[in-house]
Amino acid sequence: MKKPLIRLNNIYFYYDGRVVLKNLNLDIHEGDRVGLMGPNGSGKTTLLYIIMGLLKPSSGTVEIFGKIRQKEKDFIEVRQKIGLLFQDSDSQLFCPTVKEDIAFGPLNLGKSKEEALNIVKETCDILGLKGFEDRVTYKLSGGEKKLVALATVIAMNPLCYLLDEPSAGLDEKTIDRLTNYLLNKANTYLVVSHDKEFLSRTTQKIYYIQNGTISKSVE
Ligand SMILES: Nc1ncnc2c1ncn2[C@@H]1O[C@H](COP(=O)(O)OP(=O)(O)OP(=O)(O)O)[C@@H](O)[C@H]1O
Ligand SMILES: [Mg+2]
Repeated sequence: MKKPLIRLNNIYFYYDGRVVLKNLNLDIHEGDRVGLMGPNGSGKTTLLYIIMGLLKPSSGTVEIFGKIRQKEKDFIEVRQKIGLLFQDSDSQLFCPTVKEDIAFGPLNLGKSKEEALNIVKETCDILGLKGFEDRVTYKLSGGEKKLVALATVIAMNPLCYLLDEPSAGLDEKTIDRLTNYLLNKANTYLVVSHDKEFLSRTTQKIYYIQNGTISKSVE
């Protein structure tokens, strides 16, 4: 079997001396569509931050694309190829306008201004954000911000998506649009959600995190 895209091996993580993750193991292979459920405060967001190198585990290894990642520079490639949707959209959006926020990733990956603007248009079309390009990001509604945050991730065309509560606050029609995108255009993803129906529509298996560890598959 091919090496996993993401392998967490025996991860421990503490906040202020309190254990959040303990002996946590996780493999995500190319083509995997995985859901992750668990109570509030069980460490789901922490787990995603560890994969992206935004938090460092106290012990255990983070192996991405077959390489152990430890130092800040090890995560440059990870952040280019794995797209994280933050649970809180305000953590994702930092440009004055929607267009600039969505174009930021592609420009950073070396796309021309014209290519980036095409990507902005395509991404807005996919998510029903037509006409939002010049809107001021901080004045958007919560659901609109979530959609723009999703657009910034999709615009990067990542190898793997890590989505933290992507359906939270979205209306039914928009959730359908997101579901179709994931099923038809996204190959590999890990979706954190409390929405079991959304997970059963979009994923092949659902893991459960409790007491710091991924204990079982729900389905
Ligand atoms: N910066 C921080 N400093 C101290 N403790 C923190 C910090 N961030 C998170 N925690 C704690 O770590 C634990 C795990 O938090 P985390 O955000 O990973 O949970 P979660 O499973 O994503 O929860 P939710 O379903 O509410 O999003 C919680 O007990 C939380 O209070
Ligand atoms: Mg969380």
